[in-house]
Amino acid sequence: MQRPRRRGPAILAAALALASAVLLLLLLRCGGGKPRSGSQPVYAAPGHTSSSGGGPAPAAKLNASVVVLVIASREPVYALQWAVWSRLKDDHPDVAVYLLVANESLAAPQIDEAAGLLQLPMRESYIPGILDKTVEGLRVMLSDTRRSFKYVLRTNMSSMWHWARFMAHVAALPASGVFAGVTFEMSEHPGVTFASGAGYTVSRDVARTIVEGAAELNKHVLDDVAVGLLLGKRGVRPTGMGRCDLTDGKLPAPLDDGKCHHWRTKNHDRLKYDGYLMSRLYFELYPLPPALVQRQ
Ligand SMILES: *[C@@H]1O[C@H](CO)[C@@H](O)[C@H](O)[C@H]1NC(C)=O
Ligand SMILES: *[C@@H]1O[C@H](CO)[C@@H](O)[C@H](O)[C@H]1NC(C)=O
Ligand SMILES: *[C@@H]1O[C@H](CO)[C@@H](O)[C@H](O)[C@H]1NC(C)=O
Repeated sequence: MQRPRRRGPAILAAALALASAVLLLLLLRCGGGKPRSGSQPVYAAPGHTSSSGGGPAPAAKLNASVVVLVIASREPVYALQWAVWSRLKDDHPDVAVYLLVANESLAAPQIDEAAGLLQLPMRESYIPGILDKTVEGLRVMLSDTRRSFKYVLRTNMSSMWHWARFMAHVAALPASGVFAGVTFEMSEHPGVTFASGAGYTVSRDVARTIVEGAAELNKHVLDDVAVGLLLGKRGVRPTGMGRCDLTDGKLPAPLDDGKCHHWRTKNHDRLKYDGYLMSRLYFELYPLPPALVQRQ
């Protein structure tokens, strides 16, 4: 009785797996995808492609006005997200993206600028791992006095960003006191507003407030709650910055409404759909150059 019923979902899952594999191949093969604007990221120059430990930071990355810290995971279920971010990291010349991974065998943080990889000497974990990565990532960026960023965006691999639209929001932000994202409140903490960890933007001074207050952070709660609690104590309250949520495993129609700057993929069946949604969205927002498409 159950067999015929199961066949539908099974075929769907197989089709989805196949589509995901094709997208993954496309992402990996057509490396060096360029942003739609056509502006060539300076830091992708061949001379800068160092591998282990990374060479000196290219000027464009040091001068970027926004640093993006991405909570990343090397788990195989996030392979598509990883492939998407390997390209998304180079899609805006004024945005310097770093994927944050833990590496227990390191004694100190290690940056590979070309790969946009920041390895931190810690153990992977959800709590307090994400919070620790956030604090240490901010510390690394702030302690490099050559960097002239004005804002830091903390996000994770389950989010897709349209950089040009995001930068338009950033341009409207004040220079200091910024803590912006999707805000929420928790009944356990009346009077405190948080910004969702899927993506929040802080100005440089607020980034410093988090690092300097690290000892006071609550390591037993979710990372975004801990940051919200600390900043609340310091009188920094978050302001709203919108987001589009993809929660039902279906592609929105149209895929890009021309307005969203941030999409978050989180489905009940997330491991099956999220990577697929991420990669479909990526190709919608950052189309391949026509020459590459014709060769497919
Ligand atoms: C980065 O900033 C430095 C110092 O202000 C400047 O000399 C350099 O030309 C800038 N580089 C780029 C790529 O904008
Ligand atoms: C962790 O760091 C060590 C030392 O640099 C390196 O050999 C190793 O490949 C790193 N681990 C991963 C998973 O990248
Ligand atoms: C991103 O964060 C969400 C929580 O906001 C979590 O459920 C998800 O697993 C994270 N994704 C990655 C790739 O770490």
